[in-house]
Amino acid sequence: MNILAVETSCDETSASVLENDKVLSNIVSSQISHNKFGGVVPELASREHLNNISTIVTKSLDTSSKQFKDIDIIAATCEPGLIGSLLIGMNFAKSLAFSLNVPFISVNHIQAHLYSNFLNGQKPEFPFIGLIVSGGHTLLILVENFFRHKIIGYTLDDAAGEAFDKTAKLLGLGYPGGHHIDRLAKTGDRNFHKFPQTIIKDSKYNFSFSGIKTSVLYYLRKINFDNVKTDSLISDIAASFQEAVTDSLLYNTLEAAEAYGVKIISVSGGVSANSLLKEKFEKLTASGYKVYFPKPEYASDNAAMIGLTGYLKYIHSKDKSEFNLESFNYLAKPKLDYDNF
Ligand code: KG4
Ligand code: ZN
Repeated sequence: MNILAVETSCDETSASVLENDKVLSNIVSSQISHNKFGGVVPELASREHLNNISTIVTKSLDTSSKQFKDIDIIAATCEPGLIGSLLIGMNFAKSLAFSLNVPFISVNHIQAHLYSNFLNGQKPEFPFIGLIVSGGHTLLILVENFFRHKIIGYTLDDAAGEAFDKTAKLLGLGYPGGHHIDRLAKTGDRNFHKFPQTIIKDSKYNFSFSGIKTSVLYYLRKINFDNVKTDSLISDIAASFQEAVTDSLLYNTLEAAEAYGVKIISVSGGVSANSLLKEKFEKLTASGYKVYFPKPEYASDNAAMIGLTGYLKYIHSKDKSEFNLESFNYLAKPKLDYDNF
């Protein structure tokens, strides 16, 4: 079965072709026009998706050596994300599915991050604990089987990636900031300063990152950062911040894994590209855990994970007719529905 997938939920325009669960092409165009604004400008993102989508889809078909006539199903991200951006990819994909007379599969972007660890041969065993760390979400999910999962923890304020981006901005680094902090932290001292982690009473597996970010802000003010900054000071602060965030992610994930008696952990989403996070989780293998991380190209937003999730949704569905006419009524949803995830 050949799947064509489209992802436009935020600032990446991406298209991918898969043959079952094997990725034949995964083209990602990251919009750089937002960088000068220090964050994604929604209207600008929609316009760029509109300009790019057709070229990216054509490129992804060409790279895969498939043609429209070879495509059996079409999948697109329909939730959550920037509404204008979602509408471009979703409607492009629906129109294509309608004209080719093939099923259309709506995909939840967060579920796609969850299943990104099944791309290219990896197969985390069920049940596992999924930690999703992206720019917009931080979630702990108990995954019992395909599409049988429940959210057991989430962030009460900033997402982990958002905290990385905001802290990078405070330090005068570019946007998005996660990979800048990761790079600079390699030469910094992670014990340089202890940024406090927020412990949330009575909500065991939930996260909070805005406190860490605010304590970076207060610390920078206290030391009069603009007057004393040096490359090594920036690296030390980046390393200390990264230490606090990654400790918090590890701590809650382990608490959940122990409480649910699960020894398999899957980490995914943009922040899963972080080298210290990976190093800390990989140390768990010494105590009997099996840990999965996506390849870097499947950590940040990409259409391959949308295609795989669409394919899994299709093959695990009992009634394939739900993906025909009914699926064209599916609406884009900007927010994640925590109760019906
Ligand atoms: O999953 P993703 O590509 O997009 C969303 O669905 O939000 O995640 C993007 C986030 C950004 O906040 C970015 O700064 C962060 O992932 N990120 C990183 C690293 N690479 C990307 N954070 C920490 N370390 C990295 N190496
Ligand atoms: Zn994402």
